[in-house]
Amino acid sequence: AEVIIIKNEKEAGEIYGRCVADLIKAKPDAVLGLATGSSPLAAYQALAKIVHEEHIDVSKVRGFALDEYLGLPLDHPQSYHSTIHRTVVEPLGLDPAKVHVPGDVLNGAPLEDGDKIAAAGPAYDAAIEAAGGIDVQILGIGTDGHIGFNEPGSSLASGTRVKTLAEQTRIDNARFFDNDIKQVPTHCITQGIGTVLKARHLVLLAFGAGKAEAIEETVEGGVSAFCPASALQLHPHATIIIDEEAASRLR
Ligand code: F6R
Repeated sequence: AEVIIIKNEKEAGEIYGRCVADLIKAKPDAVLGLATGSSPLAAYQALAKIVHEEHIDVSKVRGFALDEYLGLPLDHPQSYHSTIHRTVVEPLGLDPAKVHVPGDVLNGAPLEDGDKIAAAGPAYDAAIEAAGGIDVQILGIGTDGHIGFNEPGSSLASGTRVKTLAEQTRIDNARFFDNDIKQVPTHCITQGIGTVLKARHLVLLAFGAGKAEAIEETVEGGVSAFCPASALQLHPHATIIIDEEAASRLR
């Protein structure tokens, strides 16, 4: 992977924004892979600024998000469906009908509806393939090296599927649910690591000392399911954009 060390999130965001804006100019129906979380926010803002300043037509742009909680209605403010709409679809002015989040078809279906839930993952991968694949996938990274909701131990060849949320992830995310872990969903649906690796270009963003160890494992460790992001070493076009703090353990 190519590692780019930048001053701050804004500078990282501008690199992503320029790259994706140029992509959309060349390919108006580009397929964007989208992530939630804090790391990509400056990148979405930078892209939105360029799109508006340069009057880029985004009406045909398509999007596929990485992951979603199970058991939340789509209009729940903490669903990734809502989050992607708030942070990407609205600021960029995308056509909401062209932006997909795994779990959209489930819309809060109860976990007992096992057949429906089991079918949702393969259907999502098929929809990505039918769209011609993802052109640029933006990624954040967890402090344990997770990408999407692929926690350590996830198969490097996995497709989109239902997973149990790690206890630590539920504790970390309780801040979005009134600090009440009981309200945090127990399951999720996430693009697999194999799904992510099929995107033509990966852009992973990480900022702050808390990510330094995960970045060290990702860039300089062996490829291993114990650090899901290390799978980026297998990808022919992966760009890792990090600040000095996140880079502090690199040799
Ligand atoms: C988000 C996602 C997660 C985050 C990761 C980092 O859709 O799949 O893997 O990218 O947890 O989160 P932040 O960016 O908030 O540090």
